Amino acid sequence: MTILEIIRKRYSCRAYREKNIEQEKLDIIFEAARLAPSAKNLQDWRFVIVTDKETKQKIAKAAYGQMFLEKAGAIIVACSNNTDLMRCGQPIAAVDVAIALEHIALQAAELGLGTCWIGSFFPDQVRAILDIPDEVAIVELMSIGYPGDEPRKTSRDQVEKIVCYEKWHF
Ligand SMILES: Cc1cc2nc3c(=O)[nH]c(=O)nc-3n(C[C@H](O)[C@H](O)[C@H](O)COP(=O)(O)O)c2cc1C
Repeated sequence: MTILEIIRKRYSCRAYREKNIEQEKLDIIFEAARLAPSAKNLQDWRFVIVTDKETKQKIAKAAYGQMFLEKAGAIIVACSNNTDLMRCGQPIAAVDVAIALEHIALQAAELGLGTCWIGSFFPDQVRAILDIPDEVAIVELMSIGYPGDEPRKTSRDQVEKIVCYEKWHF
């Protein structure tokens, strides 16, 4: 599969089969995360992989009751201990963790696994469930597992709407 084919294959999977993800697949997926670029190559990302059923249920409740998370093979809790802004003013933590997470999502798609980004959650509740220290930001969650639904296509804008050349003329 080409990278574009994998990008096309990825979709937000919100139903999972209750099947464990093989350790070999998780190893490949986190190798893809490990190789992601980061500001100043700081690599200040940390990933907590939750597979325990009861803990997944608690996190699902802490994610505004998105109970499909409970059935996913794992919930990845993506964190960063970096609080700095880049010189452009944007936060390092959110940008770097997002890049690594999309590496995860695409590698998972190539391996036949579904993922869903989860930004709707109460960080303080997730922090308490997983004993995450106060100084560590919980940037995002991602469910991952064997899909229990069919791939869906969601709409995207045409490239002309989002790209211009040389100067801003939208
Ligand atoms: C940063 C971010 C946060 C998101 N948070 C959630 C979420 O909390 N729950 C959910 O079901 N989907 C969430 N999504 C998935 C988006 O709704 C989805 O990517 C978008 O509708 C496009 O659909 P697709 O991923 O199937 O192409 C999130 C996506 C991103 C990138």
